[in-house]
Amino acid sequence: MADRPTEVCIAGRVVHGRGCGRELGFRTANVELDAGAAAELTEGVWAGWIRWPGQTWREAVINVGHRPTFGGGSLSVEAHVLEFSGDLYGTDVELRLVHRLRNERRFADREALSRQIRIDVARARALLRGRAPTRQPTEEQQ
Ligand SMILES: Cc1cc2nc3c(=O)[nH]c(=O)nc-3n(C[C@H](O)[C@H](O)[C@H](O)COP(=O)(O)O)c2cc1C
Repeated sequence: MADRPTEVCIAGRVVHGRGCGRELGFRTANVELDAGAAAELTEGVWAGWIRWPGQTWREAVINVGHRPTFGGGSLSVEAHVLEFSGDLYGTDVELRLVHRLRNERRFADREALSRQIRIDVARARALLRGRAPTRQPTEEQQ
């Protein structure tokens, strides 16, 4: 089971988070999902791809979880887009979760979480490099 390649494709609109991502030093796009899509997801930190209209697929690290470091909350999907600093609020994005990197954890402070996210980013780069999806998810499902 653990070795089986996993790929989950989801789509949703980027909505406002609580603003903690900026303080962390990693801007995140909070993706709003309908309840059905959220139920399909496996929690954890993922390496994967993000795309929005007019763009090619970009590398991302994605957290599917409850942010226990910041007191927890409802399930959220947050993507940090590598080498991108623009504003995605209100944009409809597609996400592909490809490699599950680790469980979400509670860190002692935001510096410790930031250090871990830097490691997540490095692992994601190594796993994703040169492997951008070339086909539409819908074509692959046929
Ligand atoms: C790659 C990545 C990994 C993350 N890992 C964790 C984690 O292990 N534990 C945690 O509490 N939050 C984790 N987060 C979520 C951050 O806590 C979250 O991005 C931050 O609270 C900002 O939330 P906001 O946009 O709602 O303000 C992660 C976020 C990203 C992008």
